[in-house]
Order: sequence, then C-alpha cells, then structure tokens
Amino acid sequence: MMIASLPDGQLSADNFQLASGPVAEPGDGEVLVRTLAITIGAGQRAGLQGSASYAGAPTAGRVMNGTGVGRVVASNDAGFAEGDVVRGMTNWQDYASAPASQWEKVDAGGDPALHLGVLGTNGLTAYFGLTDVGNPQPGETVVVSAAAGSVGHIVGQVAKVKGARVVGIAGSDDKCRTLVDDLGFDVAINRKDDDFRDQFKAATPDRIDVYFDNTGGDILGSALFRMNTHGRIVCCGVVSQYDTSTPGPGPRGIPGLLVNNRVRMEGFLIFDYADRFVAGRAEMQSWIDSGQLVPRVSEFAGLESAGQAFVELLGGGTVGTTIVRVAE
Ligand SMILES: NC(=O)c1ccc[n+]([C@@H]2O[C@H](COP(=O)([O-])OP(=O)(O)OC[C@H]3O[C@@H](n4cnc5c(N)ncnc54)[C@H](OP(=O)(O)O)[C@@H]3O)[C@@H](O)[C@H]2O)c1
Repeated sequence: MMIASLPDGQLSADNFQLASGPVAEPGDGEVLVRTLAITIGAGQRAGLQGSASYAGAPTAGRVMNGTGVGRVVASNDAGFAEGDVVRGMTNWQDYASAPASQWEKVDAGGDPALHLGVLGTNGLTAYFGLTDVGNPQPGETVVVSAAAGSVGHIVGQVAKVKGARVVGIAGSDDKCRTLVDDLGFDVAINRKDDDFRDQFKAATPDRIDVYFDNTGGDILGSALFRMNTHGRIVCCGVVSQYDTSTPGPGPRGIPGLLVNNRVRMEGFLIFDYADRFVAGRAEMQSWIDSGQLVPRVSEFAGLESAGQAFVELLGGGTVGTTIVRVAE
C-alpha cells in the first residue's frame, strides 16, 4: 500500500493506494518475511504530518511505513530460519526484505495481535510512560486521555495494577462503558459531553496525581487546572493536533500552574527504553496470565483496508490496538 498523496487536512483512505510489484530477493544478511498482520497507531499520523521529527520528512510515492509480524520465507542470515515468526518494519506490504538486525523473533505460536499490541510498541509505551515517567503510587488518582485506544487502555489497567484510582477519558458512551465494565477503570467520561468539564471535576475529587496525556488540546487544558501539588503530567502524544493542517495552540496555564503546584510535565519517546523492553514485556505477560491485564484489539482484514482502518482509528472508531490481518 503506497502513500498516494500527503493529507491536506483530515486523512482519507484515498491518501493510500494499492500497488503491486515483484517480491524482493533477500540480499546478503537479509531476511525475507511474509507479512501476517500489521498494526496502525495514531503516531503514524504525526509522521505523515511532518510533526514527528524522529520519523523524518513525509513523502508521497513510497510504501507506507509501519510495524508488523510476519513469517520468514527466506533467510540469508544464520540467526533466522524459514518458518520463524518475527516482528519488525514490514511496512504496509505483503512481503518485506530487510537486514537481519531489523527483525526480532517472537513466539511463533502466539497471536500476532498480541506481539503488535500489548507486547508491541504501544503496550511498552503505556508501561514505561506510566511506570517510569508517571510513577503512580497506591491510592493516587491517574487520569488518561484516549483511554480506550491502544496505549490508553493499557495505561489504565497498569495503573490499576499499581493500586491507583483510574479515570479514563474517551469519545463515546460505549467506550466509557467498556472501560469501566470490562477493563476495571473506576470512572470514564465522554469528552464529547456538553458538561465534560463538570464531569471531569466531579470524577477527580482528590484532584490528579498523574495525568497521562495522549491528546494535548482541551483535555490537557482541563487537566492542568486539576493537578495536585507534585503531580506528574506524562506527555505521550498529541492526537488532538495530528489529523489537521492547522494544529491549535498549546493550553493556557503553562508555566504558571506548573510552578505554583510544583507539577512535573515530561515528554518521552519509547525508543529510549529499548534496553528494558524484555523486562517490560515479561511483567505485562505475567499480568495477562493472572488476568489483571486484558488486551483489546480492533481488527480489519486485508492490506486494502489499512487506509480505512487508519481513518477510523483517528476518528475514534476503534477500541484497543488497531490490527490489519494480512495473511493466515
Ligand atoms: N511517546 C511515544 O513514544 C509514543 C509511542 C506510541 C504512541 N504514542 C502516542 O500515544 C497516543 C495514542 O496512540 P494510539 O496509537 O494508542 O492511538 P489510539 O488511542 O488507539 O487512537 C487515537 C484516539 O485518540 C482519540 N482522539 C482522536 N481525535 C481526538 C481529539 N481531537 N481529541 C481527543 N481525542 C482524540 C480517539 O479516541 P476517542 O474518540 O475515544 O477519544 C482515537 O481513537 C498518540 O498521541 C500517539 O502519538 C506515543
């Protein structure tokens, strides 16, 4: 699937187009992989917007980038054999050839969705952003925005494991019900309700100790005014500003509110935690095994649905991690 054009305003499925070509022969030290599934994350929209400096400048006319899980079909590296299942930059394509160093073996019997979701980049982002940057303590109040999304639904559940009281913010009543009834959040609020600010205040009677910010924008603006002394704001992403060519200004109250309440506001990028991924995955797997962490996915079928899946993700139409199944 190619980037046909860069979005001007909101992303549309027409910004992508299918193209076919010969399957690349793996070169020296390369491994050729048949893609089984890819994941799509909101941060990829920042990449297309050009606002994610780490992703480089966006360009039309190339294969859309992205992470996937695939099966090795040919290997010119001693560390990989045909049949191995690997995670890496498959991009949005059926077959991908890349140097062995860019692939990482995963459990061949497991569901690719698990390796792309809770044990993939977004799960690790939730885990390290919350536990390392936010560091919630038992009894503290944690608020997370885009709470029913891929990162957010894991943040809330990990915060519960840590003994916090958890308030989720999502974009529909259905999602709010899922957060409370199925995923153990204490309270969930619909950001689109007219009385959102009143509900937000009522849901945080002891104010906020950790705000995990996936959205920026108005929700960050509200959270800033509810922070406790020595609270922590974890700046994970700015999804309210991605799907537009005219991102809004930052919120009021910075730096005054940070100074008065001694609030720490800190951004992070998950790549910085690479040397701790194995330990993070092991702890999350143990919580999955004990039933304390329930990963959710929204599934789409076929590479041709990837553009539409991306549009739905940004529009709030998905719950959990967005996965596109590409092959059995
Ligand atoms: N720092 C890092 O290393 C890192 C790594 C990965 C991801 N991230 C960030 O993590 C965040 C979540 O990513 P994700 O892949 O898990 O996406 P996601 O939460 O699965 O999907 C994005 C969600 O954002 C909400 N949203 C959309 N427009 C919004 C708006 N104008 N205001 C408020 N909410 C809006 C929608 O849910 P509702 O309609 O339900 O609100 C949408 O479903 C993103 O900001 C991403 O950039 C950061």
